[in-house]
Amino acid sequence: MNIFITGGAGYIGSATAEALLRAGHSVTIYDSLVTGHQQAVPEGAKFIHAGLEDTLALAVALSEEKYDAVMHFAAFIEAGESMKNPGKFFKNNLTNSLSLMEAAAKTGVKRFVFSSTAAVYQSSEEPLTEESPLGPTNTYGYTKLAVEQSLDWYRQIHGLHFAALRYFNAAGALPGRGEAHQPESHLIPRVLQVALGQAEYAYIFGTDYPTPDGTCIRDYIHIADLVSAHQLALEALQNRDKMIYNVGSGNGFSVREVIDAARRVSGQEIPIREMPRRPGDSARLVASSGKIKRELGWKPQHDDIDDILGSAWEWHNSHPRGYE
Ligand SMILES: NC(=O)c1ccc[n+]([C@@H]2O[C@H](COP(=O)([O-])OP(=O)(O)OC[C@H]3O[C@@H](n4cnc5c(N)ncnc54)[C@H](O)[C@@H]3O)[C@@H](O)[C@H]2O)c1
Repeated sequence: MNIFITGGAGYIGSATAEALLRAGHSVTIYDSLVTGHQQAVPEGAKFIHAGLEDTLALAVALSEEKYDAVMHFAAFIEAGESMKNPGKFFKNNLTNSLSLMEAAAKTGVKRFVFSSTAAVYQSSEEPLTEESPLGPTNTYGYTKLAVEQSLDWYRQIHGLHFAALRYFNAAGALPGRGEAHQPESHLIPRVLQVALGQAEYAYIFGTDYPTPDGTCIRDYIHIADLVSAHQLALEALQNRDKMIYNVGSGNGFSVREVIDAARRVSGQEIPIREMPRRPGDSARLVASSGKIKRELGWKPQHDDIDDILGSAWEWHNSHPRGYE
């Protein structure tokens, strides 16, 4: 297939692009590098350095070749920031996604794979299924839900088949390819920065959540397993016009448990600082990924937190400045 990938210079998009190239597909990456890295663009991909907000560049890019599929990773990802500056998220994650859908539909693209998130759900004691109550606790999650719902209208009106993959927390690394956000807000890289001596403390935001150790519980999904879910979804869109799947490991780990795992894999002490809760965080988000396993035959290979942390540690240790 000829595949157009937005955000393919970022963490998840570049890993997916690399796997698709290896599988024999042609890949064009469209990325403004607002948070991504040119060095992360995999060899063999065509690279267009432009932003989705440049609707003319986008229209030209999509009409230059006939694309079989669009995979849309480009977005701002910091849920906490989305509660301070919602407009930034509405513009990039919602308005720019609408421009992309419109341009894709106009140029006759028939498959669209979208990076959605667990943040579309309410916090829950039980593992979240696709039928669990929706209710984003931050505007980041709201923008992702709004894009999913808009995609459904493009499906009905323009026949755009879509898959929304609701990722839980992407984590871990592949050889030479890992998480490099600037500034880094995700727990695992932040904790490993402390292990590397690049930061003094690992901060725990909220220690009074209704969880066994009082800290938030999240589901960490290894980047390799996330990539394989995309490959399966892309293939399945040939016969299915709408798919929404949770993509998580099904295992929940508290912030304290992640820090303990980081101490084990790095052999470093990792001092902590306990802070008040952050607006927009929910107590527990853990996936039930039974549906994608049943329907697409997805088989995650990594469910051990030390295995995930170990691969992340290898990446951060060998690339202490990310892709620089
Ligand atoms: N990382 C996670 O744990 C996680 C969890 C759930 C969902 N997601 C979603 O997955 C997607 C990828 O996340 P990531 O962790 O790889 O983030 P990332 O920041 O590493 O990658 C995002 C990429 O999109 C590009 N981009 C952003 N806005 C753009 C624009 N307007 N025009 C062109 N390019 C633009 C950035 O330059 C970057 O290369 C995002 O949509 C995110 O919301 C991520």
